[in-house]
Amino acid sequence: MDLLNTKLLPAGEAAYKEAAELLRSGELVGIPTETVYGLAANALDPQAVLKIFAAKDRPADNPLIVHIWHIDQLDELCEPPELAYRLAEAFWPGPLTMTLPRKEIVHDCVTASLPTVGIRMPSHPAAAAIIRESGCPLAAPSGNRSGSPSPTVAAHMFDDMNGRIPLIIDGGECDVGLESTVIMVKEDSVRVLRPGGITVEQLQAFCDVEVDDGVFKKLEPGQKAASPGMLYKHYAPRAEVTIVAGTAEQYRAFLQEKKADGVYAMAFEEELESLPCPGVSFGRKDDPATQAHRLFSALRECDELGAKTVYAHSPDQSGIGLAIYNRLLRAAGFRVITL
Ligand code: TXA
Ligand code: MG
Repeated sequence: MDLLNTKLLPAGEAAYKEAAELLRSGELVGIPTETVYGLAANALDPQAVLKIFAAKDRPADNPLIVHIWHIDQLDELCEPPELAYRLAEAFWPGPLTMTLPRKEIVHDCVTASLPTVGIRMPSHPAAAAIIRESGCPLAAPSGNRSGSPSPTVAAHMFDDMNGRIPLIIDGGECDVGLESTVIMVKEDSVRVLRPGGITVEQLQAFCDVEVDDGVFKKLEPGQKAASPGMLYKHYAPRAEVTIVAGTAEQYRAFLQEKKADGVYAMAFEEELESLPCPGVSFGRKDDPATQAHRLFSALRECDELGAKTVYAHSPDQSGIGLAIYNRLLRAAGFRVITL
């Protein structure tokens, strides 16, 4: 791969124009969304889409989400059941991706040859403006190198993509901090393939909701994944992460026993001061939105601090907590200690 000079431009009309031109000419651009930063290409240009896989070192069998800014684009790309329109009405623009039967216009390389395509309408004004200005739907995975935590600020994306893409648009910190909820939409029900900013509880107001096994369990090699992304090691810092479930007192006593050089805690803000070892904060205990917002930054901080072992205090699993726990579980390679 030729080394490119990666430019960072602050969000704004001039930057959107430059991004749109690059995208129309088959190049990649880093864009902010309300969930995480995305690595975008014209979804209808297979050559451009293939560049995404190369820049991320992403396996070709992991499909991409296509981003739209206007509801009319939905029918151009797929054949949604009625329920999809109702969910779109309720949750778009926002952190919900629906996998839907695709039309022929969507190339195999976008969907890893699956019969469905994942579609999402982001709410971040910069993302919407860039899609509109470019005139094409944008295929965009998270803007990290494959296997690393998703970038929630432009600088994290720059760290991963410097030299690999021509432009990143800096739209500040991502609001949600975790990737979108991915659902498979059927006639009267949905199946959650990846939990995210739109919660199971919110979806239940509209239809029956099933949560796929892959959300909680490690799939065995060779087992078929409803969402191929579930097969891969994800979100992992260089340190070995373990989730520790228990009360604040139990957690503190556990760390007292384990403390050593290179051992770090990933704990709630309120807990940090009284811990026997150094730690990074991942949000406030009773405020899961702050945990979602902080999670990926906290994992990257562990690397910056040179952590070798990280014990993360388990978050609650209701609401958006399910998404936080799901990402942490993958970062931890499914290692959980219950005290
Ligand atoms: O919030 C997000 O969704 C971010 C921003 C940039 O929009 N994007 C994102 O993309 O997280 P990515 O590629 O990192 O994750 C997409 C996930 C993968 O696990 C992939 O396997 C799954 O969605 N996926 C995509 N298309 C699918 C399909 N047709 N069927 C099943 N799973 C699909
Ligand atoms: Mg990703």
